[in-house]
Amino acid sequence: MSKRVIVAIDGPAGAGKSTLARRIAGKLGFLYIDSGAMYRAVGLWALRCGLDLSDAHRLEQLAKEARIELQPENGRVLLNGEDVTEAIRTPEVSQAASKVSVIAGVRRAMVAEQRRMASETSVVMEGRDIGTVVFPDAEIKIFLDADVAERAQRRLAEVQARGEAIDAERMAREIAERDKRDRGREMAPLVQAPDAIYVDSTHMGIDEVEEAVLRIIRERTSNGKEWNS
Ligand code: DC
Repeated sequence: MSKRVIVAIDGPAGAGKSTLARRIAGKLGFLYIDSGAMYRAVGLWALRCGLDLSDAHRLEQLAKEARIELQPENGRVLLNGEDVTEAIRTPEVSQAASKVSVIAGVRRAMVAEQRRMASETSVVMEGRDIGTVVFPDAEIKIFLDADVAERAQRRLAEVQARGEAIDAERMAREIAERDKRDRGREMAPLVQAPDAIYVDSTHMGIDEVEEAVLRIIRERTSNGKEWNS
């Protein structure tokens, strides 16, 4: 019987983790899990409830109560039964997600759910702490990075493609702010796991990144015992 495999992809906002993780999961036939969407759903709910985003007690309760579903068949995200796929992608929710993710109780609730989702199947999961905290024993760990200016540019293009207007300077400022918070927090900060492979995508197209990462996965899994033990 082949073993469950975990591919962990971590890195800062705008590095291309979601696109890469979705493609890799498609190629390998693994389940794709966007852990950031879960923190975004909690952030959205907190904003809607008008909560103070530093109220650890209320936010932990909210995170525990949130019913977050990531639908693998169509990539939709549901919060308490409501489709919030688009609603969680606004700049306000990006900041709220980064703020609520600082809170230990929120992280505990999300990590428990992420482990449950991957308990029976091979997954490609992307986020900030997947290779360090959620699955420290993941078979494959990638740390996907890019220069901050390039990341801000990519996010800007994404937002513009959705027909929304956002100021380039504001986008760059928000990405930098989120980076600082995500890297500087006490619990599960964004950091490269010692055994993660660093990939700098600043000057690479997505096809090239995908190819490089698939190569890494194949190398690891064909020398190794991971898949078939
Ligand atoms: O990946 P993303 O940009 O959608 O994530 C939104 C925020 O959620 C991010 O700024 C920090 C938080 N996050 C986290 O703390 N841990 C994760 N594993 C994923 C996201």
